[in-house]
Amino acid sequence: MKLLLLNGPNLNLTGMRQPDIYGYKTLPEVVSELREFCDAYGCELIDIQSNHEGVLIDAIQDAMGKFDGIILNAGALAHYSYALRDAVACCGIPVVSVHISDVYSRESFRAVDVLADVCISSVVGQGTDGYRIAAERLIGS
Ligand code: DQA
Repeated sequence: MKLLLLNGPNLNLTGMRQPDIYGYKTLPEVVSELREFCDAYGCELIDIQSNHEGVLIDAIQDAMGKFDGIILNAGALAHYSYALRDAVACCGIPVVSVHISDVYSRESFRAVDVLADVCISSVVGQGTDGYRIAAERLIGS
């Protein structure tokens, strides 16, 4: 099994930005823990972080036919990117979306998630553990 972990804008700052909201683990720490978890299931994990919408869309298109699942934290793009939504909807790969924070209890614009209904499920507000929960769902599906 091969999973793609995609993190969008500002998630490279995880562990440093607003740690009261996003926690103290850095993205490399989160990725390495997730890779260890996936390894235990014989599952390969490739990770990409980009602050650019088009790079994320290219990564989803490039994954078609090559990956068994995508874990996607699109950051703020989740709230308004119909282009990313279209890419998720047409890629033919199960996508689980992750939000580290509880977007439903923050500013009202964060309660809108245009990706949610094209993903097979969403993990919201579980901190950085949300990535592992998403991997469990894909490995178990
Ligand atoms: C986030 C929530 C988004 O609203 C925010 O823009 C992010 C991170 C999360 O993981 O909680 O960048 O996706």
